[in-house]
Amino acid sequence: MKKTITKVAISLAALVATGNAFASPASQALEHAVQAGAHIFATDTFGGHEQSFHGTRTTCATCHVDGGRVMGHLPNGKKIPSLVNAVAIFPRYNPRMHKVITLETQIQACVRNGLLGHAPAYGSQTMVDLVSYLGSLAHGQKVAIGGKPR
Ligand code: HEC
Repeated sequence: MKKTITKVAISLAALVATGNAFASPASQALEHAVQAGAHIFATDTFGGHEQSFHGTRTTCATCHVDGGRVMGHLPNGKKIPSLVNAVAIFPRYNPRMHKVITLETQIQACVRNGLLGHAPAYGSQTMVDLVSYLGSLAHGQKVAIGGKPR
């Protein structure tokens, strides 16, 4: 009995030491999706061969500076919004498409028009990861559909 208690105490201590004491499979899966999304955001060209204005291959991060945390500019001076509240302000009316669009549709538009790539399908793992990453940037903010990007 005493041995068992010691064993349990040791394994609990090991869990706490590795920071995994309360990490449920659910939170680990979400954290994994966020990390994967951050990686896709920084590195994926979606099959596009567009040379970016920085002379490197175009990814989301080419236009959306610092992982989307700050505002950027296109070479023609057009503002690129930060993505810190994107998850909170979609769905939103898009004047060019003349309709209300979701965040996923905006991401697809950026892949097609910005990267000249193949847009990830709704519900695909890539889309889930990207939305998870953007969700992590906006975590804790009030939902305000139709709002303005920061
Ligand atoms: C060539 C530059 C460029 C690239 C590359 C690009 N975007 Fe964008 N993105 C923009 C611009 C400009 C806007 C502003 C809205 C518009 O004009 O469509 C925007 C808007 C957005 C928005 C909406 C922000 C808001 O709150 O209004 C999201 C979300 C977004 N981009 C995600 C992405 C993701 C994810 C990728 C990579 C798959 C990506 N973008 C690649 C230029 C780019």
